Amino acid sequence: MTIRDAQQIVLASGNPGKIREIQAILKNQTIIAQSQFNVPEAEETGTTFVENAIIKARNAAEFCKMPAIADDSGIVVDALGGAPGVISARYAGVGASDSENLEKLLNDLQNVPEEQKTARFICVMVFLQHANDPFPIIAQGVWEGQILPAPVGENGFGYDPVFFVPGYNCASAQLSPEVKNSISHRGKALKQLTALMENIFKTAI
Ligand code: IMP
Repeated sequence: MTIRDAQQIVLASGNPGKIREIQAILKNQTIIAQSQFNVPEAEETGTTFVENAIIKARNAAEFCKMPAIADDSGIVVDALGGAPGVISARYAGVGASDSENLEKLLNDLQNVPEEQKTARFICVMVFLQHANDPFPIIAQGVWEGQILPAPVGENGFGYDPVFFVPGYNCASAQLSPEVKNSISHRGKALKQLTALMENIFKTAI
């Protein structure tokens, strides 16, 4: 099978927004959420975003016996040596809520001067043709900002209420979903991944 034969791709995420965005670009393939196949959750044992994205994609590709896309994302804070990083979703402990994670982050930064609270959201997206694919397509998006002293805004999720977006002079949680998608780490990674994939589907022999 060549890469161009891939008619269906499993997405190792249940996020309907992500599925819609990828589907809109890859028109000749059908993107299916892994929840449709009851794929068991993969254990994210990597120390980097790229390792975890590959683990998730490989898990979905192996279980469904089809090509897979996965992403891994999080927030990296300079003053904390890169933490929360790959454990962003469970920074305050396994099963912690968004507000508990955010509270821990603000607590860890309470003695750090404002100008040293530089941070970035990272998103890595990968495409595997099959579970043993030795040459994954890898895309990454970075969104630079700064951690605010207190949460503001109602939109988004996770660390959005404490992520200051310099170009817009507000928190990420104060941006509309459309604006956020157009400038975010996830938006950038998705654009890069789909461009790389489109190119491969066009040129594969
Ligand atoms: P993942 O599902 O393993 O990729 O974990 C991502 C975690 O990183 C989320 O649970 C959030 O805590 C954080 N995160 C990633 N992207 C964003 C974002 O766009 N806004 C806010 N938090 C984010």
